[in-house]
Amino acid sequence: MLDWNSLKTVCSRCTRCCLCQTRHHVVFGAGNEMADIMFVGEGPGEQEDLTGEPFVGPAGKLLDDMLSIIDLDRSVNCYICNIVKCRPPRNRDPLETEQDACIDYLRNQVALVRPKVIVCLGRIAAMRLISQDYRITRQHGQWVQRNGVWITAIYHPSALLRDVTKRPETFDDLLSIREKLRQVGARV
Ligand code: URA
Repeated sequence: MLDWNSLKTVCSRCTRCCLCQTRHHVVFGAGNEMADIMFVGEGPGEQEDLTGEPFVGPAGKLLDDMLSIIDLDRSVNCYICNIVKCRPPRNRDPLETEQDACIDYLRNQVALVRPKVIVCLGRIAAMRLISQDYRITRQHGQWVQRNGVWITAIYHPSALLRDVTKRPETFDDLLSIREKLRQVGARV
């Protein structure tokens, strides 16, 4: 396991998959590195690729609003990152091989942050971190415990921008996240 500085340096120079050929920036992750809750998206979009920061485009603005509903703030009490750190061309889903090449960075980040709760943002992160056959429409908001960490998934903010009818369910999921943070005595 690498410390934060080494991990950031290694990741910033990564050539483990072909996404390195089209990226402008590696989007490593951001927020409080000692947070009790971590949010994991699928991969950077255009704005994220241009700035090097996760969730700064339209979906990121919605994510900030979602966090504020449950008294979370990305720079205060959360850590936010993605399954893959470089933008897939035209925002396609990251390939299995690209996820495989990148997943050790995320494992290292989790080992350093030591969150009590991990929230997958969308299907891709849930399939990687919860189960390969994860069905986001049926299983969002459900909790599993892995190695002492509570994990759930909610709809990706981009899905909520496309389909507002999913928002009431997501509101309930957010309340469940706040309740879980209380149960585990998280510092928020
Ligand atoms: N979508 C993601 O999954 N991650 C980002 O960082 C931005 C958009």
